[in-house]
Amino acid sequence: MNDLTFNEYKDMFEEHLTDFIPDVDQKSISLYESMKYSIAAGGKRIRPVLLMAACDFCGGKVAEALPYACAIEYIHTYSLIHDDLPCMDDDDLRRGMPTNHKVYGEAVATLAGDGLQSVAHEVMYKDMLLYFDDPDALKRRVRAALEITKGSGIKGMVAGQIADIEAEDKPCSKEMLDYIHINKTAAMIVAAVRAGARLGNCTEDELQSLTSFAENLGLAFQVCDDILDVEGNEEFMGKQTGKDAASAKATYPSIHGLEESKKRLAELTKAATDALAQYYDNAELFVKLAIDLENRIS
Ligand code: IPE
Ligand code: IPE
Ligand code: MG
Ligand code: MG
Ligand code: MG
Repeated sequence: MNDLTFNEYKDMFEEHLTDFIPDVDQKSISLYESMKYSIAAGGKRIRPVLLMAACDFCGGKVAEALPYACAIEYIHTYSLIHDDLPCMDDDDLRRGMPTNHKVYGEAVATLAGDGLQSVAHEVMYKDMLLYFDDPDALKRRVRAALEITKGSGIKGMVAGQIADIEAEDKPCSKEMLDYIHINKTAAMIVAAVRAGARLGNCTEDELQSLTSFAENLGLAFQVCDDILDVEGNEEFMGKQTGKDAASAKATYPSIHGLEESKKRLAELTKAATDALAQYYDNAELFVKLAIDLENRIS
C-alpha cells in the first residue's frame, strides 16, 4: 500500500539527494561541482520514486530505501551527462539548463558521469555494511543493489546506449528498435521497481506483477519520449526537440510513424496497468503514473 503521493515521495527523496555524495578533496572540487550541478538541476525523479513506492507497496520501510533511490538517480544522471556528450547525442540543453559539458567541458563532464556512477555503488555498499548482523536484511539489500547494477549495465542501459548509437543513420528493424528501447530506458525503470520490491521483502507474485508493470511502463516511457521529440517543445521538455530526426535516430515515430506510435503507447499503458489489476486498490500510484505518462503527449 502506498501511503504517499508521487510528489510526497519525490520531496522526501530530494531532501536527501545530495547527502550521500561524499565531500571530495579541494583539489578535485570541479568534479564535485559538476556532479552536483546535474544532480541538482531537477528532473522528474521517476526512477527513485518508483523504487521507494515499490518498497512501500511490498511492506518495506521507505526511509530504508533512500540510499538505493539516490543510487539509481545518480546512475540515471550519469547516463544523461554521457548521453549528451558531443560523441553521443551532442545536446546543449538538459533539465532546462545547459548540459554538463557545456558548463564544465567534455573532460570534466565525462568524469562527473564516472564519479556519479561510483558514488552510486559506494552508497549501496555503505548501506549494506550496516546490516552484517541481520542476514535477511543484508540479502534484500544485495539483491536490490544487483538489480540496479545489472539494469544499468552491459545487459541493460549501456547495451541499449551502444545499440542506439550504432543504429544512427542506418535502417533499423522493429525488433532492433525494441531491443534499443527496452535496454536503454526500460531496464532502469524495471531495475528501480525490482530493487524497491526486493527492499520491501516482496512476495514472488508481487515481484512478477511489478516487473511486468515496469517492463511495459519502461517501453512506454521511451515511446513517449520519442513522440515528444517530434511533437513536444523545448520549454516543456527542458531539452531540445527535433533532435532525433536531425541525427537520424532509430525511434518509434521514424520506424512506426506517429499514429502507430501513439497506439502503441496506449497499448503499453494498458498492459502496464493490467499487470497490477489484482492489486487494484493498492496500486493507485503506479496506475496514475502510467496514465499521466500517456497524457504527456496530449
Ligand atoms: C530521460 O529520462 C532519458 C530517457 C530515458 C528518455 P527522464 O525523462 O526521466 O529525464 P529526467 O530525469 O526527468 O531529466
Ligand atoms: C537516452 O535516450 C536514454 C539514456 C540512457 C540516457 P535519449 O537519448 O532519447 O534521451 P534524451 O531524449 O536525450 O533525454
Ligand atoms: Mg541517446
Ligand atoms: Mg539523448
Ligand atoms: Mg529522446
